[in-house]
Amino acid sequence: MHKHEQIRLLKGLINHLDNKTNINAGGIIKTPADTYTSEERFTREWDSFFLNHPQIIGLSGDLPKADTFITTEDFGVPVLATRNSKGEFKAYVNICSHRGVIVENVERGEKSKFSCPFHGWTYSNEGDLIGYPKSEQFGNIEKTCYGLKELPALEKFGFLWVHPSQDGVIDLEDLLGDELIKEFDSWRFEDLIFSNEDVYTTEMNWKLAIDTFGETYHFSVLHKDSLFQSFYGNCQMFDSFKRNGRLILCKRTIDELRDLSESEWDICAGSLPVYYLFPNIIFIPTLEGAFLVKEYPAENSPHKSYSKISFYFHPHILEHLKELEKTGINAKQLLQDQYEGFASVIRDEDYAVAASSHKGLRSGNLDYLTFGKNEPALHHYHNTYREALGLQPLPLEEV
Ligand code: FES
Ligand SMILES: [Fe+2]
Repeated sequence: MHKHEQIRLLKGLINHLDNKTNINAGGIIKTPADTYTSEERFTREWDSFFLNHPQIIGLSGDLPKADTFITTEDFGVPVLATRNSKGEFKAYVNICSHRGVIVENVERGEKSKFSCPFHGWTYSNEGDLIGYPKSEQFGNIEKTCYGLKELPALEKFGFLWVHPSQDGVIDLEDLLGDELIKEFDSWRFEDLIFSNEDVYTTEMNWKLAIDTFGETYHFSVLHKDSLFQSFYGNCQMFDSFKRNGRLILCKRTIDELRDLSESEWDICAGSLPVYYLFPNIIFIPTLEGAFLVKEYPAENSPHKSYSKISFYFHPHILEHLKELEKTGINAKQLLQDQYEGFASVIRDEDYAVAASSHKGLRSGNLDYLTFGKNEPALHHYHNTYREALGLQPLPLEEV
């Protein structure tokens, strides 16, 4: 993030702290309960936001070198994403041209050839069919007609985008807009190294998981013994970039910046930036690395979802851990503590109440959820979501 923007945001937080204010959306909005519970709505979401929308499947660090791969079936289409021997990012439909079997079943790894488990047809990491057994008996087919189907794929600013549709378009200008493009260009997310992925499965609509990241109004209550110890609650900045948003959460360490010159301020030292990347991504850069949270509906249901949480670290942090290991410190345990620390807050606190909220909505006794003046990220997300589905925006009610 550019220095002047870091300073503007940190000053904004300090100003809120000193004046006991918070960001103000100017009113409240009410989101109808069927946003989360309607089967008909869910079908439209699945079609618009998953089957027919560019998807962030990971970061550059998920494909750390040539001849590595990852697979996913999170948004309906089985995908095999590779980094070929030239280092290029490619994506293919992960189904065999012979009889449609999933070719690669492992989630991530290193190899340049993929062999189908059914009859052993083998593909290169550029999607070419390079061989099939017993060709004399099977028949002499034109191999160039039997490659894996290629999907649009784009690697930029350290993110990996795939479009689930073969003729889909990934247009970053359209997705992010100029301002966010410039901001992402300044971060160097491409250097982050993948370290772990966890999956949290929850009985709730996928958007309730997203909502939990959208405000810090709840910190002093739900997280009073956890995050609230290191964050000021009800104090944030918010900006939107087309359909995306960026919250800046206020760490208590922001007070240490008051004694430093502004040129020494670092946005991650005094705050936690949280990017909402439409439709289903929460991306959180930290001093040590980043968390990538991907929210997906599960089992074709508006009532079930899972979150994939990927943990990344800056190279110097992992180097430092290696040094610590030499002194007898259990570095693996330190990393494990990070993963468990994230789960103990997000899975066990945030998602637990979000699942409870889903139960409440499903009981049919609540007509709408209400987002306060101090929850502008949720105003933006929900009105963006509605706009993307061709629904009327939710009116702002002054209170
Ligand atoms: S289905 Fe893949 S080799 Fe036959
Ligand atoms: Fe929370």
